[in-house]
Parts: sequence; C-alpha cells; structure tokens
Amino acid sequence: MTTAGPLGLPWPASAERGTDGAVRVAGVDVRDLAVAQGTPAYVLDEADFRARARALRTAFEGACAQIGAEVDVYYAGKAFLSVAVARWAHEEGLRVDTATGGELAVALRAGVPGADIGLHGNTKSDSEIARALDAGVGRIIVDSLVEVDRVVAAVRARGAGAEPAPVMVRVTTGVHAGGHEYISTAHEDQKFGLSVATPAGGGDSPAMTALTRVLEHPELRLLGIHSHIGSQILDPAGFAVAARTVLELRAALAARTGYLAPEVDLGGGFGIAYLPGDVPLDVERIAKEVAAAVDAACAALGTPVPRLSFEPGRAIVGPTTLTLYTVGTVKPVTIDDGRVRLYVAVDGGMSDNIRPALYGAHYHAALVSRPGSPETVLARVVGKHCESGDVVVHEVQLPADVAAGDLLAVAATGAYGRSMASNYNHVPRPPVVAVRDGATRVLVRRETEDDLLALDLG
Ligand code: LLP
Repeated sequence: MTTAGPLGLPWPASAERGTDGAVRVAGVDVRDLAVAQGTPAYVLDEADFRARARALRTAFEGACAQIGAEVDVYYAGKAFLSVAVARWAHEEGLRVDTATGGELAVALRAGVPGADIGLHGNTKSDSEIARALDAGVGRIIVDSLVEVDRVVAAVRARGAGAEPAPVMVRVTTGVHAGGHEYISTAHEDQKFGLSVATPAGGGDSPAMTALTRVLEHPELRLLGIHSHIGSQILDPAGFAVAARTVLELRAALAARTGYLAPEVDLGGGFGIAYLPGDVPLDVERIAKEVAAAVDAACAALGTPVPRLSFEPGRAIVGPTTLTLYTVGTVKPVTIDDGRVRLYVAVDGGMSDNIRPALYGAHYHAALVSRPGSPETVLARVVGKHCESGDVVVHEVQLPADVAAGDLLAVAATGAYGRSMASNYNHVPRPPVVAVRDGATRVLVRRETEDDLLALDLG
C-alpha cells in the first residue's frame, strides 16, 4: 500500500497522495480532473513551471554576476509551447526560443515582445525569416552559409533603411552530450550548425567562414556564437569543453577581424529525473561550473567575458507534468523466463508520448485514483495503437489489483510529450490542463474527431 504524502521526484512538485489514497496535484484531485476533463490529459503544475523557470534564471544570473557577465535565459519552446506557458516564462524573466514559424506565432500571440524571442531552425524558409524580421526578433540563429545569404536577401527586401538583422551563428564544437556521458570528436556527422574543425586540406573552418561572411554584410549585425551540445545531459563537463571551444573561436575571429562578438549562447539540454532515484542535473552547479569555465577561458585568451545565454526546455517543463490515463484492459502475459508480465493498456499511448517508442525512453507510472493492494506485480503500460511497440512504460511495479477504470499517471511527461504528439490511428490529441491553488485551467483543449475530420476534404 502506498503511503500518504508528497510523491517526490519524478512527479510534479505539488503532487501528493491523500489519506484516501488518491493523488492531488496543486490541490486538485485527479479523480475530479478525470471526470471534468476526460482522459488522457496532460496535467501541468503551473507553480512548478514558474519555480523552475525562476530557479534557472536566478542560478545563471548569480553565477554570471560572479564573473561580471550578463546572462539571458531563453525557454526552449520546442519542449512544450502554448500561449500561457510562453507568457509564464516571460513573466518569470525568461525570453523565448522558437525553432519554427509556428512556435514564433505562439510566442507572439502570448505577447512576448519580438526583442525577447530567438528564431532557430536548420532550414528556415524565406517566409519564416521575413516573419521574424517583421516581429523584430532579438536574434536569428543562422545554421548554414546559404542561410547567411537568405537573411541578407530578406533584409534587403525590406527596403532601404531597414534595420540590420541581429544574428548568431550556430557552430558545432565536436562535443556531444546526452544521458550520463559526453563525447568529443572533431567532425560531426549531423545536420545542425557549422563545424569549428579545420578542413583536411587546411583553410578556414565552416564556422569561421560563416562568421566572417556575416561581418561582410551591413544587412547583418553579428551578435555572437551559438552552441547546443545535446539534450537530457547529466554530466556538466561537456558544457565547459564546448564553452572553451566557442570562446577560442570568438577570440580567433577578433584577432582576424578586430570584431569581438558580444554574445555566446551555450544552448540547453539540462537533464531531469524520469524515474524515482534519478538525479537531475543540479542547476546551481551547472551555472557555477559553466561560468567558471567561461571566466577561465576568457582569462587565458585575454578577451573580456561575453554576455551569455542558455536555452533550457526540458528542465523547465519536463518535471511539471504528468499524463493521466484510464486503464482499459489488464492482461497477464507469461514471458520467456516463466515470469508473468501484466500488460496494462491505457486510453492513450504513442500518440501522446512517442519517446519510449522513438528513443527507448523510460518513464515511471503509478496508480493514482486509489491506494491499490500492498502486493505489486511487474507491469508494462501500453497504449491503444495498432503496434506492439506502443509502450508507455516498459517496466514498473504496480499494485497487483490494478483494474479497468483505474486512473494511472505517468510522470515527467511535460517535455517533448504534447509537443511531439500525433494523430496516429486518428486519435485526437489530449488537452493540457494547468492546475494551481486548487483550480484547473485548460491551456490547450482536447482535439475532437470533428477537428480531425475538418481537415479531411472528402
Ligand atoms: N536549444 C537548441 C538549439 C536545441 O536544439 C534544443 C533542443 C534546446 C535548446 C532545448 O533542449 P532541452 O533543454 O529541452 O534539452 N525530442 C528529444 C529532444 C530533442 C531536443 C532538440 N533540441 C527528446 O524528446 O528527448
């Protein structure tokens, strides 16, 4: 039997089990929520979101103040973006990082000033670039040489007297991180950014070529250099290595051209807890270590410290959300070693959380509508889609009496859950429901079959 009290990590900060065995988030009973909103539903703890956004901002501000650097924290909207969360992030002193015209539209609808928005993307369309310029975005992060020319053309198209576009150049440092380790290689075999590595035959690196090309154009204002090394990073060492590499490039550019780029962005990627016992990346520690690495590198290079920026997404929204499902069927299956695995099928699946199927990601689940029996069984939570890979939680101990009609919650689904959701099997996407101080507010409503049929022109 589960005990009453806070659920702790990996659950939203306010999630607690009452003495009646049911779970409440921000004081809202999940049973009431399921009745009012239906299931599946993403349940987002607003205070937790705001607290995490604030904690990241203050950690970086504190650490950067120690080295005399200014810092901006951007909320990476790709993790989950809606008008309300863009507004919350901005109210908590963050800016908003967008990666497409669609994300840009949400941030603008939220009233985030263009100057506080960044636009990423490895292949931005002319229309996305034009919309970003119309909105007066604070920075466009260019990802290729072609894109340098494309942004120049877009500025020219605005006519004489148009403001130069503020740009950063995204570079690849050879540092890859994710999970517990980071690796460093000279050449990166992937689509993002421009390599800092010198070509085999000598000459400038693609990154240096792009930076000098930006400086040649009066239509562009070079803000600085951008590096994002990966996601769900639990080992902070990679950030320090990437920071040094980027700062060396900045110094080399200054030596070559006399232009010292004022800013450096070190991306996002801070890892969170998905399972009980996981240790998330400590934001105070990462902020201090990265600031110290920047300080040391700048001292060694004899350059002043730049303005810094970071782009966390997962670390802000990931832990704030649980997905609430209703159990549909329960089926014991004998597996090869003779053990029995209980297949617990819920009313969602890979359409609301593709991460287990796509990345083999592991999640934690619990029975949340009642305490359940003290005896537990090895269970696998699966969805309702037409494929055997439709797994929500690979392995979890659940009360042995888990049954149809029970409410099951999966923890830490806030990042890359709703944002990567699909309509596979014509399943409408679940709503995102915020809870705060005992009240519920629907941020994104549930899709209906009519919504889906409206796209089908017959
Ligand atoms: N900045 C840039 C340039 C990025 O590409 C990303 C993520 C972020 C910031 C935010 O990273 P975060 O702090 O959220 O880790 N769908 C994958 C993650 C893809 C991340 C892509 N870029 C997943 O579900 O694990």
